[in-house]
Amino acid sequence: MKHILVTGGSGFIGSNFVRYWMQSHPSDRVVNLDALTYAGNPENLKNIDDSPNYRFVHGSICDADLVAKLFEEEKIDTVVNFAAESHVDRSILGPEEFIKTNVNGTFTLLEAARNGWDKDNTSCRFLHVSTDEVYGSLGANDPAFTETTPFAPNSPYSASKASSDHLVRAYFHTYGLPVLTTNCSNNYGPYQFPEKLIPLVIINALEGKLLPIYGDGKNIRDWLHVEDHCRGIDAVIQNGVVGETYSIGGCNEWTNIDIVKLVCKHLDKLMPGDSPKSDLITYVKDRLGHDRRYAINAGKMKRELGWEPRFTFEDGIEKTVQWYLGNQEWWERVRDGAYRDYYQQQYS
Ligand code: NAD
Ligand code: DAU
Repeated sequence: MKHILVTGGSGFIGSNFVRYWMQSHPSDRVVNLDALTYAGNPENLKNIDDSPNYRFVHGSICDADLVAKLFEEEKIDTVVNFAAESHVDRSILGPEEFIKTNVNGTFTLLEAARNGWDKDNTSCRFLHVSTDEVYGSLGANDPAFTETTPFAPNSPYSASKASSDHLVRAYFHTYGLPVLTTNCSNNYGPYQFPEKLIPLVIINALEGKLLPIYGDGKNIRDWLHVEDHCRGIDAVIQNGVVGETYSIGGCNEWTNIDIVKLVCKHLDKLMPGDSPKSDLITYVKDRLGHDRRYAINAGKMKRELGWEPRFTFEDGIEKTVQWYLGNQEWWERVRDGAYRDYYQQQYS
């Protein structure tokens, strides 16, 4: 039985992971430490709240006393660190919170593990959830990122994640802390905050608002369903080699404009209207320093851990569109005043 500290468990991937873990490992203890920033929403886990094996703690990963207390009180032996500021556009508008949480927060967790864990306990694991954005941008014909691609982060967000990855690596080499790092591509699925491309487009289309495409719409991302990411993290916790990094991705590259057209196609099918939703597509000013292409070679995950994505993109996108159609109350509530202010600043 594991005692897992999940940080950022009330956000998009974290809440999907907590739900996934409690279903697939029902006897484990799960402690969710989340600061409930604009992106964290306790409603994401409302069916889990009553479970005796689950505890929610409202607090920051930057709070060293709180984190140390949790390690001791809950006998934490596994950390899965999702907590982060995660949106590239917000990091361009204001990088400071990204440094605080993504760099200092990860450092605080690493220190708690170093001080709290007995070196002889071989079952402890610190899994740091990172991103493919640390590798920078690919040209059209470049091979996909692998675990050995050199770091070249281009946004304050990716630079802060790269910094945290380096700290995690250093704690393995210097102190022998049993760390694992995953670098994953773009996730999609239920409970994603509507600032990110796919939910933003679904919700804007439902409300008859413009669908903003940055630049020429030809930037490429490699999309993975969030449940496949959660299974990948599980595989790395169970069988990953301590000190190693693992690239997780969908082998599923799409230009932004094609994704938006695909979402529109599903919406037209599910909610036919007078005109096709793609009429709302509008090209807008490009993101500063916008990375052109990301792609992951997930060969190591397949070879060494037997992991592969299960969702096809067509199926995953259709289910995601259906989820947003069926959960209007959820997305209406998460778009509070603070989000409206951000939207105004970003798209005006
Ligand atoms: P998210 O923004 O939806 O959720 C982040 C969560 O962290 C929120 O619940 C928030 O309240 C919490 N949080 C923020 N600061 C905190 C702090 N100081 N202390 C405790 N909790 C704090 O993010 P997400 O999309 O779910 O991403 C989760 C992780 O996965 C991040 O580390 C991100 O870098 C990484 N990642 C995301 C993607 C993606 O496509 N979304 C892909 C690869 C990696
Ligand atoms: O690659 C992994 C990363 O994927 C994660 O580390 C990040 O946390 C996550 O936010 C995501 O980053 P992106 O910047 O790729 O995701 P986003 O949904 O913001 O944008 C996807 C693409 O769509 C990107 O090329 C920018 C473009 N875009 C985005 C928005 C919000 C638009 O064209 N219009 C928009 O309004």
